[in-house]
Amino acid sequence: MVKLNWNTKIPPDINKLKTQNFEPLLIVEKLGSPINEKVESSRQVKSSGIIRDWYNQLIWGDNISVMSSLVKQFAGKINLIYIDPPFATGGDFNLKVQIGEKDHSKKHALLNQKAYSDNWKEGLEFYLNFMYQRLWLMKELLSDKGSIYVHLDWHVGHYIKILMDEIFGADNFRNEIIWAYPAASVKTRNFFIRSFDIILFYTKSENYVFNDDPKIYMEYSERVKNALKRDEKGIYYYRGGSHNGKKLSRKVYITHNGIFPRDVWNDIPYIRANTKEYQGFSTQKPELLLKRIILASSNEHDIVADFFCGSGTTLAVAEKLQRRWIGCDVTKHAIHIVKKRILDISNSKSLIKKKNKYNKVYQPFKTLQTKVPINHQRIPQDFLQRKIQNSIELNILDNPEFSVDIKIKNKEVIIEMQDYIIPHIDLISENVKTQVKRFSDWIDFWAIDFNHIPEMFNTLWVSFRTPKNRELKLISSPYIYENSGTYTISIKVIDILGTESIQNYEILIK
Ligand SMILES: C[S@@+](CC[C@H](N)C(=O)[O-])C[C@H]1O[C@@H](n2cnc3c(N)ncnc32)[C@H](O)[C@@H]1O
Repeated sequence: MVKLNWNTKIPPDINKLKTQNFEPLLIVEKLGSPINEKVESSRQVKSSGIIRDWYNQLIWGDNISVMSSLVKQFAGKINLIYIDPPFATGGDFNLKVQIGEKDHSKKHALLNQKAYSDNWKEGLEFYLNFMYQRLWLMKELLSDKGSIYVHLDWHVGHYIKILMDEIFGADNFRNEIIWAYPAASVKTRNFFIRSFDIILFYTKSENYVFNDDPKIYMEYSERVKNALKRDEKGIYYYRGGSHNGKKLSRKVYITHNGIFPRDVWNDIPYIRANTKEYQGFSTQKPELLLKRIILASSNEHDIVADFFCGSGTTLAVAEKLQRRWIGCDVTKHAIHIVKKRILDISNSKSLIKKKNKYNKVYQPFKTLQTKVPINHQRIPQDFLQRKIQNSIELNILDNPEFSVDIKIKNKEVIIEMQDYIIPHIDLISENVKTQVKRFSDWIDFWAIDFNHIPEMFNTLWVSFRTPKNRELKLISSPYIYENSGTYTISIKVIDILGTESIQNYEILIK
């Protein structure tokens, strides 16, 4: 068997990998209530070994530690893995941060924040070790009938293909999918413009899930469509057929509105800023791409995982296609974006009825992390005054402060956000400060746990801004307590710099 070797290649030792990188996963938040009985029982009928009280999982941490920690519970249980790891491009990727509410009179305030770096200063060998170790852990997590899709491009796709052959077995290679998209205006005239990514598709064994579902079909080409006719319902047919050897001119209907997909996918456009699904994340992938993969390679209630989840495309699509999901990212702002994307899923586009909204609330999920939270926050460069950018220590150790008014009437409580104060405001650039018109413009997200118990935040009310809906509610909905007693209300605020602060209040309900 042909293998790829490099000087520093770390020999695969799955037990060592698991133990060396293990970090306990701490549950930080719960969002939504446990699944109701009806859903639960349908899940139990669907597959054996189902976990009761299932929560989808969004995990902040380096995926090598996250996967090492998941192995105990999930080895051989994940039905589908899609990853879109850094491609070793040598660049940094940005995230667009908006400030405040939309002011239609002028161009909307947008700032760049570094989302993650794809700059492998230590060289290709380091990158290969990084991927090699993680792919072994993914194999451990994948179920026997499971599939894995690895999204890459020309930079390292060929190296990773050989690693995949080694790890998953060349016999389990299924496709090298070409996702071709029209390239944006690129200046180069020195070589042909690069306009496709590759997606390597492997399965764990020969016996794997693969669905011939018309919802994954590709549209007919223009040539075929022109040759066909459409009836009043828009269904394609052609004139033909035969009877007793005689040619007829009957309407012959085409059973599916498209063809079974080939391995070149040129029917899925790249994400644009004006689309509903756009999250301001520069390497965000289209939901339609994940729709085809998830429908083909998993069934309802299966577990779909993405350990480089970025803005959470895989998780949002899994959610909308009634799969369970586990997602992980090493940056906190990616986790924040995903959290909002899932909380707002009912307003996103349906993947089944093109013109409709999804219109269903999210399934309960929890956020977890590998490390005890650190309090200080490094301010993104774009938010700082130029002259101090490189010259001083930029870690801000004090947390922002906010003030709220808590109105208690009998057993009903309403909370109003009243102020938000950023410490070290002198460090923030004039450009940002002039765009912040009122205190609430600093706030991106706030959530309330009306009955807080230490360690875990149970989100019972939340308001947040999304790229398309910039409005933030400053007054919560009423919360009604069932019993008298003393309660702790915990309020969490995440500002546009990504800083999170939590304040707790004791209240007495008579
Ligand atoms: C190409 S982006 C994924 C984009 C995603 N498919 C989407 O549609 O938004 C790669 C992501 O991998 C994350 N990442 C890089 N190294 C990681 C690691 N060791 N553990 C977890 N996530 C990592 C980055 O922070 C980044 O968000």
